[in-house]
Amino acid sequence: MAHPCAFVIFGAAGDLSRRKLMPALFHLWRGGHLDERTAFVGAARREWDDNAFRDEAAGSLREFVGADVLQDGAWERFAARLFFVGFDMNDQSGYERLKQRLEELDETSGVGQRRVFYLATPPQAFALASRQMDAAGLTQPLKTEDGDWPRIVVEKPFGRDLASSRELDAELLRSFDEERIYRIDHYLGKEMAQNLMVFRFGNTIFESIWNRNWIDHVQISVAESIGVENRGKTYEQMGAARDIVQNHIMQLLATVAMEPPSRFDAQRVRAEKTTVIEAIRPVDPESAETDFVRAQYIADAAGGQPVKGYRQENQVASDSLTETYMAGKFHIETWRWNGVPFYIRTGKRLSKRVTEASIHFKEPPMTLFRDCGGAPSNILTMRIQPDEGISLSIDAKKPGVAMALESALMAFRYSEAFPDRVMPDAYETLIMDVIMGDSMLFAPSEMHAAAWAVLDPLLTAWESPEICPLDFYPAGAAGPQSANAIMQRDGRKWSHF
Ligand code: BG6
Repeated sequence: MAHPCAFVIFGAAGDLSRRKLMPALFHLWRGGHLDERTAFVGAARREWDDNAFRDEAAGSLREFVGADVLQDGAWERFAARLFFVGFDMNDQSGYERLKQRLEELDETSGVGQRRVFYLATPPQAFALASRQMDAAGLTQPLKTEDGDWPRIVVEKPFGRDLASSRELDAELLRSFDEERIYRIDHYLGKEMAQNLMVFRFGNTIFESIWNRNWIDHVQISVAESIGVENRGKTYEQMGAARDIVQNHIMQLLATVAMEPPSRFDAQRVRAEKTTVIEAIRPVDPESAETDFVRAQYIADAAGGQPVKGYRQENQVASDSLTETYMAGKFHIETWRWNGVPFYIRTGKRLSKRVTEASIHFKEPPMTLFRDCGGAPSNILTMRIQPDEGISLSIDAKKPGVAMALESALMAFRYSEAFPDRVMPDAYETLIMDVIMGDSMLFAPSEMHAAAWAVLDPLLTAWESPEICPLDFYPAGAAGPQSANAIMQRDGRKWSHF
């Protein structure tokens, strides 16, 4: 059971807090995972008092969880644990008032100075907030039997290249030690992302074939059907490489490719993942041209409903060169993976929402059934979302007098194997981990630095559109044609999703 703490949300009036954090905290509370004395403190530039914040929280839960959620007694008790401090993040006096409020809660709630500061704010505010907290005396280390406090949680993006991520780290490290910094990547909290490790290291049969002797290549796809929604302004500064590849895709890739840790603890798991990201060959200028594509969605009406192009989205420049899609090929230079390409792709406004990693095994040494149909090789697909599960495509004989093969699926689906279990939202898992002091599913600074080191040369090459031109794809398509060319050149194909 978790000890009580004060969970402070900076940016409590923002979208992330309303959409994700409040529902996650409420579910954890209602599920009995949090100590009843836990205090949830919202901080934002609003003239709210505690009651106004409670009304806002009720509104968020009604909107993002469901209208009936407030009807049981849990909400009343939860609401009584919500507090609010209104302030401008630039104004030092706000941090002083926050400190005072937290000290009162130490007294009245028995949270014993255990504090989590969650920065659900634009990244520009991270350094400022940690410096001001420091000046207000909010960051002093406290050792307890349940770990080191206070803890700070930061959302991505962690910089926009290696240099700026180093700067951000240096700022945070002035006030918090590395052990107390939780860089959140919600993909790691997804149930199947965690299951990838169990699948690989909790079973005997896969690990022995998990290498260059058996595997031809790996594909990782993060496809979204939505566009940039109301995030045009922020997205303009990011693009798909910074928004998804540097973090979510790198984390999935690392989980698929890491060496087995000698023990299942945060330090060893994170070290193995960092090692494998460090082993990815940085993209050189030549392969930036040949092995990577970037593209942007354009308007289309194919699905019956006209869909805007990226350049017509709110707060997006009409001549924007920001990529909403990227695909490419990475090489991991290790004993296990040398010569096995890792193809990745991600995009917005694609035909479907799918996140998966698929392992494409080599063809059998002899094609005995050359003329009988079937697929050339086995494919193991780990579906992160939706419809979480794992499937293996195998060749089977089609019933009948003739020898004809057809590809069949051996499938494990979470929803069938565990029909009564509700999957927790990734934020619930990760918030619980922060409160318990378990950093396994959070990326240390070195892991982010390694990911930036791989991507930096590519991002630099993309600054020259005449060398690496931006391609386009119609909204609702599977991606641009140029992405297929990367595969075709290698005699391979993208998996269908
Ligand atoms: C976020 C990205 O990290 O992940 C968004 O910033 C993206 O652009 C989102 O839409 C996707 O998350 P999920 O959980 O819906 O796959």
